[in-house]
Amino acid sequence: MKTKIFTMNGQNDEAYIKEAAALLQDGEVVAFPTETVYGLGADATNEAAIAKIFQAKGRPSDNPLIVHVATKGQLNELVQVYPSYVDTLITTFSPGPITYVLKRKNNVATNVTAKLDTVGIRIPNNDVALRLLKEVDLPIAAPSANMSGRPSPTKASHVYDDLNGKIAAIVDAMEAEVGVESTVIDCTGDVPLILRDGAITKEAIEAVVGEVRTLSKKEKMEKPKSPGLKYKHYAPEVPLILVENNALLQEIVDHYEAEGNRVGVIVTKKMAENIEAAHKIVIGNKDVEIAQMLYDTLRSLKKDQFDVVVSQSFSIEGVGLAIMDRLTRAATEIVYK
Ligand code: TXA
Ligand code: MG
Repeated sequence: MKTKIFTMNGQNDEAYIKEAAALLQDGEVVAFPTETVYGLGADATNEAAIAKIFQAKGRPSDNPLIVHVATKGQLNELVQVYPSYVDTLITTFSPGPITYVLKRKNNVATNVTAKLDTVGIRIPNNDVALRLLKEVDLPIAAPSANMSGRPSPTKASHVYDDLNGKIAAIVDAMEAEVGVESTVIDCTGDVPLILRDGAITKEAIEAVVGEVRTLSKKEKMEKPKSPGLKYKHYAPEVPLILVENNALLQEIVDHYEAEGNRVGVIVTKKMAENIEAAHKIVIGNKDVEIAQMLYDTLRSLKKDQFDVVVSQSFSIEGVGLAIMDRLTRAATEIVYK
């Protein structure tokens, strides 16, 4: 399949949005930008179109997709009555990097929700995504637009690297500004439950709705409420060692270098000043900068340059919790203590 590239440049944008929307209405798969990561979209009401997403990504069929809509009205059409705190969350955080898991009606294709009686829905905060969703006027299921197991895409070029030739089109706009996927929050109970950490933090949610539950480490790993949590994710090409205690970072780097490895070390600007290593990969300083650079950094780690890459741990303030969650899943090995 020849993949069309629609580069949003302010010239032909309207025509490109129309063409991309027409492909989606025809049951084709189209990648598009969101504020978190690029998504791989298809008509959520069309089972055959959804099957193409799983096919293109090589995604296990028991991992449900998030449905994207432009408005709260469209969200309401897909779900049953929900707790009143959901209204507060939508008013406060949507459009934005948050996905609500709600009791569904029967109007999305069964392969979107992997046989669950719930559906995850989100209103992305990205101009191109919202224009496309309005134009297509259908709920659009969209997982991250990477091959299953690879780091998520924050640039159109990442999508191209993974999926060129396998999908109908890529809408190429700017780099995703958040850089990690949305916070997924189960809103089927009296108290909201965070299933996946993202840029909208527990503290931010608590501030508007009161009590919020989170999964314990054990729950996350053992009995995933969010089926996607159990799969290996975000793996770079090169083995990645995550050092939990940054006081040990130098020692671990020295150890791998002494063995004759070509070692890369992922560090903040600040940490870079205190570490001696042949190859430092600097990833910003603040949590929001690190989040934005994370997947691009993981994708840039190539076998022909490194035998192993060691990463420091980052503060779990703000979006830092999501960063550490993704790094933990990406790591081949974690050095505790
Ligand atoms: O930021 C995002 O959420 C991006 C952009 C493209 O919107 N999408 C994304 O989709 O990250 P994906 O498919 O890579 O991750 C969806 C996550 C998975 O962990 C999945 O298991 C969970 O959401 N999920 C989806 N529907 C669910 C449901 N009904 N119940 C529980 N978890 C659900
Ligand atoms: Mg994903």
